[in-house]
Amino acid sequence: MSLEDAIRARRSIRGLLGPPLDDTELRALVALALTAPAPHHTQPWRFVDITRARRAPLANAMGAAWQADMEGDGVPHAQRERALARSRRQLVAAPTLLLGCLVPDGLRRYADDRRWRAEWGLAQHSFGAALQNVLLAASGRGLGAFWISAPLYAQDAVRAALDLPGDWEPQAFIALGRRDPAYTPFDRPEPDLGRHLVRR
Ligand SMILES: Cc1cc2nc3c(=O)[nH]c(=O)nc-3n(C[C@H](O)[C@H](O)[C@H](O)COP(=O)(O)O)c2cc1C
Repeated sequence: MSLEDAIRARRSIRGLLGPPLDDTELRALVALALTAPAPHHTQPWRFVDITRARRAPLANAMGAAWQADMEGDGVPHAQRERALARSRRQLVAAPTLLLGCLVPDGLRRYADDRRWRAEWGLAQHSFGAALQNVLLAASGRGLGAFWISAPLYAQDAVRAALDLPGDWEPQAFIALGRRDPAYTPFDRPEPDLGRHLVRR
């Protein structure tokens, strides 16, 4: 398959079956994440392979944080419960659950908030590139994978549940496993370059 076809063929596969990825497979994916472009020749990422034993405590901690947010937003009880149960299922059931974190390694420190936010933005861009490498490589190996953004909304809960250092900022999970053949990806819109590309 050409590289361009491989990019097109990658989809979010939310129907995942066991077993978990073996260590060699997981290490190969993370090694590819580490080849992503990043600012100032840095690698401001850390990855955590979340073991079975940590899944329920992690889901509980994240669920409590999300519950508080939803209560603050006035989300009705039944809707909250449905959302929490679905999220918990995803975290507990994922054959492999990989957490990606950002760290400030090698980033430039500025006295003003504007430039520090820009610098952190650079790190976030590179994180997306690193995760895309994982998703593409997983797809190329015939694995299923999808991105879960919940950690970004519950960083303290994730850090505490996994005993992570204070300067690791949890960003996202990637759930990985074998593809459930019954899962059909969502429709993807055709590229609309009239809207997405302008010339000035
Ligand atoms: C930053 C980011 C956050 C995402 N968060 C989630 C998520 O929390 N749950 C989920 O199922 N998919 C999540 N996705 C996957 C998107 O829904 C998916 O990439 C998009 O719908 C396009 O579908 P495709 O990946 O199959 O091309 C996320 C993707 C990105 C880039």
